[in-house]
Amino acid sequence: MRKPLIAANWKMNKLVEDSTAYGEELIERLKAEDVDLKKVDVAVCVPFIHMAALKVIFLLRGIGVGAQNMHSADSGAYTGEISPAMLEDMGIEYVIIGHSERRMYFAETDAACAEKLKAAHSHKIRPILCVGESLEQREAGEHFDTVRKQLAGCFEGIGGKEAAGTVIAYEPVWAIGTGRTATSGQANEMASFIRSVMADLYDAEAAEQIVILYGGSVKKSNIAELMNMSDIDGALVGGASLDAGEFAQIVNFDPDVVGKTPKVQ
Ligand code: 13P
Repeated sequence: MRKPLIAANWKMNKLVEDSTAYGEELIERLKAEDVDLKKVDVAVCVPFIHMAALKVIFLLRGIGVGAQNMHSADSGAYTGEISPAMLEDMGIEYVIIGHSERRMYFAETDAACAEKLKAAHSHKIRPILCVGESLEQREAGEHFDTVRKQLAGCFEGIGGKEAAGTVIAYEPVWAIGTGRTATSGQANEMASFIRSVMADLYDAEAAEQIVILYGGSVKKSNIAELMNMSDIDGALVGGASLDAGEFAQIVNFDPDVVGKTPKVQ
């Protein structure tokens, strides 16, 4: 059984004082929603400056803190970078790797993602690897090929155990921040495809274990339908995660699945 994961990606937003208020509010809202954090993994992926505050607030609360990027080396002359050893030292549980915005604006390649994936696993940080096609690629019918190539490149040199422990987020670029969500059918079709590619690259058992998220204009109004699909195990939420109340409602995508109190029949 794959445990659902709902992850927030704040991107480059909020000031330190906002993050403290957000953390406290999220704890309260998850309580109010009656969410059982043993039934769903929750991660909040934030800019580096917010991590210290959130680690303190979330201490022993069962909410993970994640980075949105990292370098693959443990230390060295890489001005401005943050290393996996530093994240591990801080108790950071997750790291987003290969987000389309990093691929687009910071020229991140599949080969760089492979190095970062290796580094994350060696530091026991759970990586969330992002893949997804552009609008042009979808319109040209190249979406499956694009994602297959990304997966082959990003998992180059990664062992089966590590692959099975990697979260893969399918984020079609045309659905990010546009309000245009992929239909649940489109999202699930790609999630199943990703699982089949991973079965080819590794084996069926590893592929079955991989937690696959959908990301792109996820909100409280569309999460339930997405989570109902066979191969979608969670969501990577951008804009709608900036509001702790809405994010808590997204985490509570189905009270029967993540609720503390069983529904009385
Ligand atoms: P939005 O939810 O704002 O579309 O962003 C999705 C995303 O890029 C999450 O990583």
